[in-house]
Amino acid sequence: MKFNAIATALLDWSGDALAIGLPENAVELTGELAQLDEKLAGTLKELIEETEFDGKRDNSAVTRVGGGSTVRKVILVGLGKADHLDDWRRCAAMMGRLAKQEKCKTLGVSVPQWNNDPASTVRSLVEGIELALHQDTRFKSETDDKGAIVETVDLLELDGQDEAVDKSLKICSGVLLARELVAAPANVVNPITLAETAQAMANEYGLELEILEKEDCEKLGMGAFLGVAQASALPPKFVHLAYKPEGTPRKKLAIVGKGLTFDSGGLNLKTGGSGIETMKIDMGGAGATFGAAKAIAQLKPDVEVHFISAVTENMISGHAMRPGDILTASNGKTIEVNNTDAEGRLTLADALVFADKLGVDAIVDLATLTGACVVALGNTIAGLWSPDDEVANGLMAASDVAGEKLWRMPLEEPYFELMKSLHADMKNAGSRAGGAITAALFLKQFVEKTPWAHLDIAAPVWADKDNGYDSAGATGFGVRTLVNWAMM
Ligand code: BES
Ligand code: MG
Ligand code: ZN
Repeated sequence: MKFNAIATALLDWSGDALAIGLPENAVELTGELAQLDEKLAGTLKELIEETEFDGKRDNSAVTRVGGGSTVRKVILVGLGKADHLDDWRRCAAMMGRLAKQEKCKTLGVSVPQWNNDPASTVRSLVEGIELALHQDTRFKSETDDKGAIVETVDLLELDGQDEAVDKSLKICSGVLLARELVAAPANVVNPITLAETAQAMANEYGLELEILEKEDCEKLGMGAFLGVAQASALPPKFVHLAYKPEGTPRKKLAIVGKGLTFDSGGLNLKTGGSGIETMKIDMGGAGATFGAAKAIAQLKPDVEVHFISAVTENMISGHAMRPGDILTASNGKTIEVNNTDAEGRLTLADALVFADKLGVDAIVDLATLTGACVVALGNTIAGLWSPDDEVANGLMAASDVAGEKLWRMPLEEPYFELMKSLHADMKNAGSRAGGAITAALFLKQFVEKTPWAHLDIAAPVWADKDNGYDSAGATGFGVRTLVNWAMM
């Protein structure tokens, strides 16, 4: 799909589908729209009346235009309250879907500008359409789109924004990588193939890459990560990619992603109803991390960014860690594993200790860490924990522009009592109550000096059904927030 930001006005555009975004309660046909309606012999007015189109969010209307017109179809889509960039992204996504459904190869998009900011307007439109129309057919033997493909999208009266188009497409390529990694099953994306993906990215985009093998991790004393890895028939891979700009970086950041390519629960096996069959998504943090790496490597900001994931799978075997085992992490702290299904925090413990030693200005980790966070915040919102207001506020701002929802949650220190162990420094699992909070408090034990934030993305990494923002399946959640945050 090719995007063109062009000067052409909606009256002069010709092609298959002309899509017009209108804010709610502002669907009167004035100015250019009145002229267009005249040109189309009153079709617009009729369409609005007949369909009771009111410009509300997700409201749309489509009609064919007859009689020698230079456009074949007109699509109206609501911009809702039109007070947030997300209204544009969502509107564009619907325009894209309708154009495809109507078998239109060329799409012209006409919307009012957000905040007189053409670059942000373009970015939302490109993201909305590019991400809505992406189809993952890697595992299908046949596709069912019957040749309906949108080939070109003209963004009308938005000339001079080629750079914004280019930037958005680079970010989208990162989001799509994250989606593909998360969507792929655990027999395709495993520690070995995920490390290969990192290697391919390093080769293609000139990122630095260090992969610590099991023996390297042993030397560094990563007993928590290796405890989780020990039941797998596949070797663990500790992946460290780094983007370094030319010259002195303005700041240095580390992004750490939970990389469980499958989470069976271990000997505390995920039994009936616990969603074991969905646990290929448990590397969603690593997916977002690598997606951000792909985008950032192409965008080339003046910021140094480290991308880290301790990749393994949580399996059962005669070699598996047992409930009650005591592990020693690479900062010397000891952990009694009272639940082998609280494995993500064990892998993150050693990854955070590693990141903390890099001397970066801030660390953010992303993890599909707890079912409790899904219960607390529902299907589309990620939890944010941080002892540092500056990092927390930066991430909140970055996520707002991205349209990826975060909600700041408390690091309620007294709850750490629940993690006290009789013989070790701590247990790895607290009680059911406040389970996402105790998980965050556990991670905090492994960050000594660097400002840090933790994002629990267990819910938004996957959409069960189309929710207007994301089509059903892997969402690539986190990539756009991370890119915005790194570029701030
Ligand atoms: N990977 C899961 C968390 C999860 C649950 C992600 C649902 C996505 C959807 C994690 O490793 C886990 O099993 N957490 C346990 C922790 C508990 C044993 C303390 C949980 O949430 O039940
Ligand atoms: Mg688990
Ligand atoms: Zn897990």
